[in-house]
Amino acid sequence: MAAAEQLTELEAFQRQVAGCTRCRLHEGRTQVVFGNGSPDADLMFVGEAPGFHEDKQGVPFVGQAGKLLDNLLAGIGLERSHVFVCNVLKCRPPGNRDPVPEEKEACEPYLFRQVELIRPKVIATLGNHATKQLSGKEIGITRIHGQEQPIKVGPLSVLLYPLYHPAAALYTPAMLKVLEADFARLPELLGRPAEVPEPAPPLLEAAPAAEPAVQLGLF
Ligand code: URA
Repeated sequence: MAAAEQLTELEAFQRQVAGCTRCRLHEGRTQVVFGNGSPDADLMFVGEAPGFHEDKQGVPFVGQAGKLLDNLLAGIGLERSHVFVCNVLKCRPPGNRDPVPEEKEACEPYLFRQVELIRPKVIATLGNHATKQLSGKEIGITRIHGQEQPIKVGPLSVLLYPLYHPAAALYTPAMLKVLEADFARLPELLGRPAEVPEPAPPLLEAAPAAEPAVQLGLF
């Protein structure tokens, strides 16, 4: 799909999601925070959920954690406009509490559709919620940060790259160092050749195996 077409599809999808009432979070939100950035980004970041400022402005990661994300991106020569940033939940949970399973389940099709439309090479998940949602596993971020793993989102093969959440790293210098080191590997991951799709199975059944040489009287 050409970049212009990707943008149109993503914008149409954003308009559709803007009126979502799939879970109770719609009752308290100012607006849906769909995500922003390049519609054909190779690198997509997925955080947890909009906070106070994100809910007001309609843009993900605009608070302190967002500033750290911008600095980390600058450290590898990237800007927000080069990547796509969104969250597991598109609406703010009251008081910034953790997302609950029903909310994550209700919002999951939106995240998966975003991935299908943007077709990133690498999805960097920020923190536990996004990592568990996209890996489908209950392994915590402390154990798997910085360890890339191939995943499938629908028919699409993507490299999942779990990272600490910038909000957690803001006040923990040791965690910030780890996040910076993990971030520094992103250019290498983005430079890897895209996974070659597996060859389609042959249309015709394989020919029966040749007769053993002995039976053919060759020996
Ligand atoms: N934290 C998140 O996970 N997402 C945001 O958009 C902001 C803070």
